[in-house]
Amino acid sequence: MYSDSSQKKRTKPVTLSTLNQMKLDKEKITCLTSYDASFTHVMNVAGVDTILVGDSLGMVIQGQDSTLPVTIEDMCYHTAAVKRGNTNAFILADMSFMSYSKPEQALDNAAKLMQAGANMVKLEGGSWLADTVKLLSQRGIPVCAHLGLTPQSVHKLGGYKVQGKGQDAADLLLQESLDLVAAGADILLYECIPTELGKTLTDAVPVPTIGIGAGHHTDGQVLVMHDMLGINLGHTPKFVKNFLTDGRNVTQAFEAYVADVKATTFPGPEHGFK
Ligand code: KIV
Repeated sequence: MYSDSSQKKRTKPVTLSTLNQMKLDKEKITCLTSYDASFTHVMNVAGVDTILVGDSLGMVIQGQDSTLPVTIEDMCYHTAAVKRGNTNAFILADMSFMSYSKPEQALDNAAKLMQAGANMVKLEGGSWLADTVKLLSQRGIPVCAHLGLTPQSVHKLGGYKVQGKGQDAADLLLQESLDLVAAGADILLYECIPTELGKTLTDAVPVPTIGIGAGHHTDGQVLVMHDMLGINLGHTPKFVKNFLTDGRNVTQAFEAYVADVKATTFPGPEHGFK
């Protein structure tokens, strides 16, 4: 799989089977967001395993104050750009706000993202999504379910707050995770949950877990590219580390992120929640 054990560069395309094997082998999965061909190319050079075309593009590309204004057309446009710049990474693409509120609507919109170049679609939500996940999965569309802090629900959640705190909330997150896996979810992504809960959930499910602000026990890590390059218009979340330091260029910053995630030196305890 690697061309050189010291550099850890992928020489073959990463697939869902690769990611499942990485969970079994306890090799950490790296993921960064990208929205265009050029940064995607640099991420390939740096050996990033998976690329998320996140609806965070609403904030970091469009200058919106949340992900809610992003449309499925926006997501298709950026997914196609990422696809054109990509050689080896596995591409996840976000389904935009309200583009999956009903199963048949979700199928139509997920098909658009897959035709634009995604290898998997990501949806935010819990057990209520099970019918949708089942339909997509039955039709051959791989699904990542995003749980914990779900930014499309920021107004309902009352802000960007840590989720899953306390036994009841943790039990609910576990049950929702199991429901989504039973429905066919292939990856679970957890945002802003306590580090120990990240471990409990990762141990409980047979599919890879990817975390952001979920501690170092998850099978993989994701960061928004602009955050880890220190380009942040407002508040820097606790779980973010700036890798564009120490005289590094962008490629070296991506390589440092890959190296730190693989070595489990990022995230550190200071990036996690209790
Ligand atoms: O849109 C995005 O970038 C995301 C990450 C925060 C996981 O969903």
